[in-house]
Amino acid sequence: MQPDKLIIFDTTLRDGEQCPGASLNIREKLEIARQLSLLQVDVIEAGFPVASPGDFQSVEQIAREIKGSKIAGLARALEKDIEAAAKALEKAESPRIHIFLSTSKTHREHMVRKAEEEIIDMAVKAIRFGKKFCDDIEFSPMDASRTEPQFLARAIAAVIAAGATTVNIPDTVGYSVPEQFGGLIHYLKQNVANIERAVISVHCHNDLGLAVANSLAAVKAGARQVECTVNGIGERAGNAAMEEIVMALKTRKDFFGIETRVDSRHILACSKLVSSLTGFFVQRNKAVVGKNAFAHESGIHQHGFLKKKDTFEIMDPKDVGWEDSELVMGKHSGRNALLHKTKEMGYELSPQELDRLFDEFKVLADEKKEIFDEDIATLIQKQTLSDESLNAYTLGKIKCAFETGAVPQATVELIGRDGKKHAATADGDGPIDSIYNAIDKIAGLSCKLLDYQVQSKTRGKDAQGEVTVRVLHENREVLGKGSGVNTVEASGCAYINAINKLLMKSKAGPVAGGEIPGP
Ligand code: KIV
Ligand code: ZN
Repeated sequence: MQPDKLIIFDTTLRDGEQCPGASLNIREKLEIARQLSLLQVDVIEAGFPVASPGDFQSVEQIAREIKGSKIAGLARALEKDIEAAAKALEKAESPRIHIFLSTSKTHREHMVRKAEEEIIDMAVKAIRFGKKFCDDIEFSPMDASRTEPQFLARAIAAVIAAGATTVNIPDTVGYSVPEQFGGLIHYLKQNVANIERAVISVHCHNDLGLAVANSLAAVKAGARQVECTVNGIGERAGNAAMEEIVMALKTRKDFFGIETRVDSRHILACSKLVSSLTGFFVQRNKAVVGKNAFAHESGIHQHGFLKKKDTFEIMDPKDVGWEDSELVMGKHSGRNALLHKTKEMGYELSPQELDRLFDEFKVLADEKKEIFDEDIATLIQKQTLSDESLNAYTLGKIKCAFETGAVPQATVELIGRDGKKHAATADGDGPIDSIYNAIDKIAGLSCKLLDYQVQSKTRGKDAQGEVTVRVLHENREVLGKGSGVNTVEASGCAYINAINKLLMKSKAGPVAGGEIPGP
């Protein structure tokens, strides 16, 4: 059996743009409309033409340029609105006029000030008027979810009889809950005699965070059009998010048995465009399009994911335009994930090297929230540089005191190749100088520091610094490197690295790498 089709009616440019702070100019609206048509949404609601000359022009331009998607213009149940919408849509390949009128008791009494029969009469007249310009007429009884069901059913039967081809049931204030909203659609299917002559649509707001759930409950109950917006932007808490509706139906086709014609691979690009043009940032943990939507950090999740993706991933990130899932390296990551990451970065580590790297990685992960590839590369380099079999000394600890106006002083403890601890205290012109003087004392050398540089190797405030020193001793010049989040400690490591090279060279011949020929 062929799966049913769901019509995706995108209202990013109308309801989405209506939300405070999201206003877009004509050029920006066109850009979004082009992206929506690439996505192959069925209907693009381009604006509310009577609302302003700018709105009129953008609907007109989108109608002229965009092919392949139906273009809708919004209108109140008033002749001047319908005329404006019809005029703006004149050049559309496939136009739709979307007429709305409030039906709930509170709206009837306080907004439109009309009785039930007057509302029905006004809606019917508006539809007949719209039909003069356009065959495709959608009618929305505003605040439908809070309208008395019997009256709603009567109003809907009347507008369908007058020629409405789509009847949209808005949950205007986001008041419904899924079971109830699905029940309302079911009720209308049972109680509106001519309901089969129109497509049932739903339009849910997200005031209780239920817009997508309500829309899907309605689809399950028989709705065949969903009105939604990119990233869920819209009045107040927004509308149902288009990307969530599309991916829920695609991922849970087993449950819904319904397809959309949306080319989901363009979802992320569209989300980014809407976010950058409206200035509405997408939260990191937002479903489908948030930065974390396909990022795994927990060690257990990473372990399962590396064995088989579907252990912790229900969608393929490529299906929505992401390049791939991301293994975020952080304090929750396990040894397996680190191994995978180092392989991906092109390193072949022995099990012992991996063990050492993992220990250092865990220490760093406690200091730094997110570990980037550069951080891991720096740790690996640091390991190579501090290969103990080549070193005369490794760093034990550094204590360094600095106070304005006082002479800086440092105490350094180094560990010799035999495991013995050697400590010395020295003054200096600055804290780093005092550390270096203390190291010289232990090593029994008198070195001259020719150059000292610190570079940020990774990103963020807690980035790792890489310190490079050029050290001269008895006409020999060597380069030393050290890195870490603590740049004072990294400075000590860089100097020890240089000292080791000087000592090794004198005892065991040249040490590979890092040597600068003397003058
Ligand atoms: O939320 C609403 O009721 C609307 C209508 C105009 C469909 O946006
Ligand atoms: Zn709305």
